[in-house]
Amino acid sequence: MLFKKIKLVVLLLFIALKGFSQNNYALIPYPQKLSLLKGNFVFSPKNKIQILAGQKLENEVSYLRSVLSQYKIETAVKSTTSRIELKLSADVKGEESYQLQVKPGIIAVTAATPSGIFYGIQTLHQLMALNNIGTHQKQIPALSINDQPAYSWRGSMLDVSRHFFNMDYLKRHIDRLAFYKINKFHFHLTDDQGWRIEIKKYPALTEKGAYRTFNNQDSVCMELAKENPDFEIDPRFIKVKDGKQLYGGYYTQQELRELVAYAAERHVEIIPEIDMPGHMMAGISVFPELVDGKIGWGELFSTPLCPCKEEVYTFVEHVLNEVISIFPSKYIHIGADEVDKTSWEKSELCKAMMKKEGMKDVHELQSYFVHRVQEMVEKKGKKAIAWDDALEGKINSDITVMYWRGWVSGAPLKAVQNNHPVIMSPTNPLYFDTFPDKSSLRNVYNMNVVYDDIPADKTHLIKGAQANLWAEKVPSENRADFLLFPRLTALSERLWTNKDKFEDYSNRLLAHYPVLDQMKVAYRLPDLCGFALESVFVKDAVLEVKNPLKGKNIHYTQDGSTPTTKSPILSGNSLVINKPTSLKFALFSTGGAQSKGDIYAVNYKQSTFATAIKPSGKLANGLSCDFYKQPIDKVAKISGNPDQQFLVQNIVVPKEAKAPQFGLKYNGYIEVPETGIYTFNLTCDDGGMLYIADRLVIDNEGPHSPIEKSGQVALEKGLHPFRLDFVEGGGGYTLLLQYSKVGCDAKNIPDSWFQRELK
Ligand code: ACM
Repeated sequence: MLFKKIKLVVLLLFIALKGFSQNNYALIPYPQKLSLLKGNFVFSPKNKIQILAGQKLENEVSYLRSVLSQYKIETAVKSTTSRIELKLSADVKGEESYQLQVKPGIIAVTAATPSGIFYGIQTLHQLMALNNIGTHQKQIPALSINDQPAYSWRGSMLDVSRHFFNMDYLKRHIDRLAFYKINKFHFHLTDDQGWRIEIKKYPALTEKGAYRTFNNQDSVCMELAKENPDFEIDPRFIKVKDGKQLYGGYYTQQELRELVAYAAERHVEIIPEIDMPGHMMAGISVFPELVDGKIGWGELFSTPLCPCKEEVYTFVEHVLNEVISIFPSKYIHIGADEVDKTSWEKSELCKAMMKKEGMKDVHELQSYFVHRVQEMVEKKGKKAIAWDDALEGKINSDITVMYWRGWVSGAPLKAVQNNHPVIMSPTNPLYFDTFPDKSSLRNVYNMNVVYDDIPADKTHLIKGAQANLWAEKVPSENRADFLLFPRLTALSERLWTNKDKFEDYSNRLLAHYPVLDQMKVAYRLPDLCGFALESVFVKDAVLEVKNPLKGKNIHYTQDGSTPTTKSPILSGNSLVINKPTSLKFALFSTGGAQSKGDIYAVNYKQSTFATAIKPSGKLANGLSCDFYKQPIDKVAKISGNPDQQFLVQNIVVPKEAKAPQFGLKYNGYIEVPETGIYTFNLTCDDGGMLYIADRLVIDNEGPHSPIEKSGQVALEKGLHPFRLDFVEGGGGYTLLLQYSKVGCDAKNIPDSWFQRELK
C-alpha cells in the first residue's frame, strides 16, 4: 500500500516537474534559444491581465489585445497578479530580435524595436494556441527565450492575376504569415491574365483588363475539378456580361490601403509588383498603342510593351506613381521576366533607336527599359526589384535581384559579383504551385539559402528567400491553402531559425495541425505511409496504412472514384487484399477547415517470387553506371552509346557526371537477404525507371521536379538483375533510391547488396 502511495507521489511529482510535454512549446519557427523555467503562467477569468507598455507601442498593445481576446482573455487597467510587460530596450541587439520571459504571474517581452516586440507577442500567441488557452487549458509553461531571425527577407508571393483572391482571403493570409514570422508579402498584381489594381488615371485597366472569358488554364482547372473540388473556379468571381461569362476581379485603391494598414499592424511589408515589359497582356489589350506590332502570344510569352515608344514610359510612370502612393514599402517589384523580344526585333522604331543609342542587340533594349523604370522608382525614394532574367542585360547594382530560374544555377553568384542584393526564390523548392509530395517539406526545410559558390564576403547580399505561389492552377482558396501549408512553416523555420533540425521540426509540426485547424487553414494533411503505389501480393497481403494524425479518418474507394468523407473508412487503417484491385484513399480532416491529404491510388497485382539467379561470371561489389551526355529530359530518350562508364557502390550520381542535361544507366545485380516482398521508393528529378528481376518496379518518368514513387517486387533470397535509368533534364537533379520491408521506415540500400559481374 505504502509502495503504491510512493509510486503515485513520484508520478505526480514527475508530472509537476515536467509539467508540459514538448507539444506545449512546439514553436515554429523554433527560437534560437529557449530554456524551460519552473512553473507556469496561468490565464484565469478571475485574474484579468494588465498590459504595461512603453511609448511607441500602441500598435503592438492593440495587436496583443486582439490576440488575448481571441482566447477569451480579458484585460484590466490594474492587476497585481497577472501582467504582460512590453518594453523597448536598446540592450537587445537586432532589428527584429526579442526576449520573452514567461514566469508565474508575469510575461515580459523586451526588444529594441516595435518589430521585435511584435515577434515576442507572436511567440506568446503560438504558446497560447499550442496550449488551447481559453478551451481545455489555462496555462503556458514558464520559459525564457532569446530570439532573432537569420534572414531579414522572409517572404511569400501570391499571384492574384491568373486567379483572383478577395480581400478577406488576403487578410487571413497575412495573419498566417505573421503567425509564422514571415515579414514580406509580394503581391503579383498584374500579368497577362488580369490587371488587379485600380489605376485612377486609366480606369479601363480594371474595367476591361480585370475580366476575361475562361482561358486554357481555367479549362485545365475545370477538368481537374472533376476529381478534386478544390480546382473548381471560385463562383464569386464569375459574372455574366452581354450573355458571356467573365472571370475576374480587382482591388480598389481604398481596399489596398486598408490591406497595407492591416499588414503593417502585423509587421508585414507588402511589395507590389507591376510585371513589365512582358506579362502585360491584360494591360496592352486595353491600350494596344503601347506595343509595336501584333498583340498576342509568341512561342512562349506575350508581346511586351515597346521600349522605344515614349508614351510607354508616360504610362508606366503614371501607373507607378499611383502604386507608390498606395504602398509605402521600401521596394517596388518591376518584373522584367520572360520577355519575348521578337516584336522589338521587327520594329522599325526599335531599329532606329538601337542605331541612335549604339545598342548592339534587343537585350540592350530590355536593359534600357529596366533602367528607365528603375529611375522612376528611385526618384520616388524606393528601391526596384527585378526577376533574375534582368541579369542577362546590363543593370546596375541598386536593383535587388529576385532569383527564380532554378536551371540557371550560377545566377545568384553572378548577381552578388555585381553587388546586387539577392532574394532567393528558386523554382525548386520554392515554387509552391508545384505539387507537394512526401519530400517537399524536407526539401524546403533543408534548402540552401546561400548557395555554396557565394564567396564569404558576399553572403550578406543574400537577404533571404520567399515562396512563390503562381495561380494558373490555383482557382480556389482551398487549393491555395493546400499548396502553401504546411510548406510555409518549413520555410519560416529555415529563414528564421536556420538550423538543421528537420526531425524535431516534423514532430513540432504535428502539434501545429490542430492550430491550423483552428485558423481554418485548408492545409495539406501529412503523408500516409506503409504501402507502395504499385503493390504486389503472392497469396494475400494486408494493406496497413500508417496515419500520423490522431482523430482523422482515412476514407477509401475500390471503384476508381475519388474518395470523399462519405466513402468507407479504412477501419483500423488496414485491409486484407487477396485479389488484384485498385484502391484510392485519402486522409480527411474532421475539423472546420476542409483540409485533406493527397489522394493515393494503390494498385495490387498478383505476383510470384522471382527466382534468384546465379551469374556465370565472377562477381564484385558495385554497379556499372553508363553516362550519356545528351540534351534529353526523359529516360525514354537516352540513346546510342554511353560517353563514359563509371563504377558506383550505390545509387549516386558520380561527381564526374557533369553536363546541363544527361542520362545515367545503372546495371548489375541486387542481392536480397531473404525471400519476401520488397518496397522501393524512387525520388527523382527529372525521371527514373527501376527494373528488378526484369520486372518494371517503378515508373517515375520525367520531366518533373523531385517526386517520390514507390513500387513492390516479390523476390526470392539471392541475386536478381538490377537496372535503374535516370535522366537529368536541366535545372538541378535529385536521385534517391531507398527500400523497406514493412512499415514506413524507408532505408538506404546497403552497398553490399549491389553486385556486378566482372567481364
Ligand atoms: C517567373 O516565374 N516568371 C518569375
